[in-house]
Amino acid sequence: MIPTKGLIEIDHFGLEYISDGGATQAVADVSLSVRPGEFVSILGPSGCGKSTLLNAVAGFLKPTQGRVRVDGEEIRAPGADRGMVFQQYSLFPWKTVRQNVEFGLKMKGIGADQRERMARTLLALAGLIGFEDHYPDRLSGGMKQRVGIVRALATGPKVLLLDEPFGALDAQTRVIMQQILTNIWQRLRISVLFVTHDIDEAIFLSDRVYVMTARPGRVKAEVAIPLPRPRDPESMIGAEFLALRRELAGLIREESLHAMGGELAGGMSGIDVMLGDGSLVEML
Ligand SMILES: Nc1ncnc2c1ncn2[C@@H]1O[C@H](COP(=O)(O)OP(=O)(O)OP(=O)(O)O)[C@@H](O)[C@H]1O
Ligand SMILES: [Mg+2]
Repeated sequence: MIPTKGLIEIDHFGLEYISDGGATQAVADVSLSVRPGEFVSILGPSGCGKSTLLNAVAGFLKPTQGRVRVDGEEIRAPGADRGMVFQQYSLFPWKTVRQNVEFGLKMKGIGADQRERMARTLLALAGLIGFEDHYPDRLSGGMKQRVGIVRALATGPKVLLLDEPFGALDAQTRVIMQQILTNIWQRLRISVLFVTHDIDEAIFLSDRVYVMTARPGRVKAEVAIPLPRPRDPESMIGAEFLALRRELAGLIREESLHAMGGELAGGMSGIDVMLGDGSLVEML
């Protein structure tokens, strides 16, 4: 079945924060899209506006410039059609796993029996059967984040937004979480917009990756990831994977050096930065 819902369109989006310290243009003129059922990642340096962009799609922030639409409808507020997973575990500590997952369904007025059925199906997909009655403080970081994903999916969104969800996890747990997320995504066929710092993670998970510039964030490049699916960690040592990693690492390195105020010195493989007076300084 080909997915038909969950088209995200970000059109000349810009966001300026106004605070006591003055105005900060966090994101400028970003246009990108996620097709129904597609897995798209945003990769970019710290502070380039990745969370800002995701929060605008979620409806927590209003664009200062441009528009954000899901299935043609302009986003004006948060809604059950978009699920969000944050980097920090944002579970209710006083509720059990089951109660956390069922919370959104309860708010929607869904009855207890149906709630339990829906929650159980998703908990099974995330390998959480047996932990339904645990409180969050008794779960590992990986499990908490699986509950976060299941909770975001419980209300049946068309779009799942994830903001560096595995950033706080150790490398091994991270790889397992990536596989779990891929399985869930392939089963549900919903659109995913995923924010990460991690190049390998972006390649492993995505159909396409957008690389952002340093603040104010713009789209620097769009890279298609044509690796066949299903992917397994073995595919991360193949020649095609390594070529993509090299391409993305080059884009990120270029951007980090620009952000540091230097210019990439030609032919120096990004190791030297040219200063304003023409002298070279070794940076990396
Ligand atoms: N509420 C705010 N008021 C003023 N400036 C803000 C606010 N929130 C974020 N910013 C600024 O906007 C820019 C983008 O922030 P954002 O959190 O979206 O970046 P990010 O790419 O998600 O960073 P990270 O990778 O560190 O999570 C940063 O320079 C940040 O300092
Ligand atoms: Mg962020």
